[in-house]
Amino acid sequence: MTATSNSQADLRNDPANTQWGGRFAGGPSIIMMEINASIGFDRKMWRQDIRGSLAHAAMLAKLGILTPQDEIAIKNGLADIAAEIDAGKFDFATELEDIHMNIEARLTDRIGEAGKRLHTGRSRNDQVATDFRLWVRDAIDGLDAQVADVMLALAQRAAEFAAAPMPGFTHLQTAQPVTFGHHMLAYVEMLARDRGRLADCRRRLNECPLGSAALAGTSFPLDRDMTAAALGFDRPTANSLDAVSDRDFALEFLSAAAISAMHLSRLAEEIVIWCSAPYSFIRLSDAFTTGSSIMPQKRNPDAAELVRAKTGRVNGALIGLLTVMKGLPLAYAKDMQEDKEPAFDAADAWALSLAAIGGMVMDMTPNTARMAEFASSGFATATDLADWLVRVLKQPFRTAHHVTGRLVAKAEARGVRLDELTLAEMQAEEPGITAAIFDVLTVEASVASRRSYGGTAPANVAAQAARWLAALT
Ligand code: ARG
Repeated sequence: MTATSNSQADLRNDPANTQWGGRFAGGPSIIMMEINASIGFDRKMWRQDIRGSLAHAAMLAKLGILTPQDEIAIKNGLADIAAEIDAGKFDFATELEDIHMNIEARLTDRIGEAGKRLHTGRSRNDQVATDFRLWVRDAIDGLDAQVADVMLALAQRAAEFAAAPMPGFTHLQTAQPVTFGHHMLAYVEMLARDRGRLADCRRRLNECPLGSAALAGTSFPLDRDMTAAALGFDRPTANSLDAVSDRDFALEFLSAAAISAMHLSRLAEEIVIWCSAPYSFIRLSDAFTTGSSIMPQKRNPDAAELVRAKTGRVNGALIGLLTVMKGLPLAYAKDMQEDKEPAFDAADAWALSLAAIGGMVMDMTPNTARMAEFASSGFATATDLADWLVRVLKQPFRTAHHVTGRLVAKAEARGVRLDELTLAEMQAEEPGITAAIFDVLTVEASVASRRSYGGTAPANVAAQAARWLAALT
């Protein structure tokens, strides 16, 4: 075995890794290998790694640093390797540490000398920064489409239930009636902001580190604009030190993920509450519930609970990577290899949560009668009564609030709803009240009156749902 050979087989058998083995006599200990290797997870980036190498090779060939024959050999070799990996036939080697060295060694295995020329003017530091950006960018594109799908599902249900009253809550206490459609659209707005954050992240991420080499740039006259364009980046990064040590793009992605997972967990929590027997606002089918092994009556909303819980993973990923990055001196440090697993895990958790929430939104059957009944309990139209006193009797709002409070106390003492008080009972508190007040005390009248922009009136909700449906289809 000579130190000038670096085929995949040689790399595996030679005690000294021949990628840098020139000055290494012995091999790493098993523990060193185990803590050092990232192939167990960064193999996920194989497509991005090959994309990056193809762009780099084409650029080297254009500049005459590689011969056209070498470029063709590299191109074909990488295509064959892609096919091998795709077919599950690639033998990933821990000894080769990461996806970059696994692919490069296999390339040399297949095409010989030309494979060894690929790494000209490149370091694994700019390579991994490029691959990971490409991976995060691909993840952003996939997740953005998934968030849009969930928004569409919510907007469809909103259109369907634009006029269905439900109790609106603050402090989880009955506050004022709203419509179920309005409630669905609140989540559409949240998810629209999540998409906005993904778009912002993508825009800032979209600069190409390739050509920054290890940290200082390279003496080869690389065409960084060419590789950036070939990989779909807007431009090359402007500072080589920053380029190899920046993981802001992953942190921004994880921040967007954490905020979105928080939104999904709020909806998941509401689904859990709405499914509970005392509420019974919605029903989930067998497709999104599980039974209990002991209590035959149970229909547990496990998917919603797990969406609620997966927020923990996503938050953990963000805090984990922030912690890895804090205090790292420039430029690259091996600490940064710990950037990928949290991002991969958070992306998976987010994607699955979106799929589950979207599924539940389409699956659930709202119990409109039950929600309407609830909406008319708990004196939910008390504000409408107070507003009537202001509008018709010209009372100051604070005075109207007090009068209404006394009427609520009266109704509560009698165990009736506000609209079940008699006119005489009302007039005993405020002589100016007329029978016209009963027109505003029903739930339907209450929601219909909330016509302010962004309010819950069915006409507003239908218009907003239509706007979103048009925007999303
Ligand atoms: N596996 C490494 C990572 O994921 C690749 C970069 C290694 N660079 C180095 N100088 N050792 O970060």
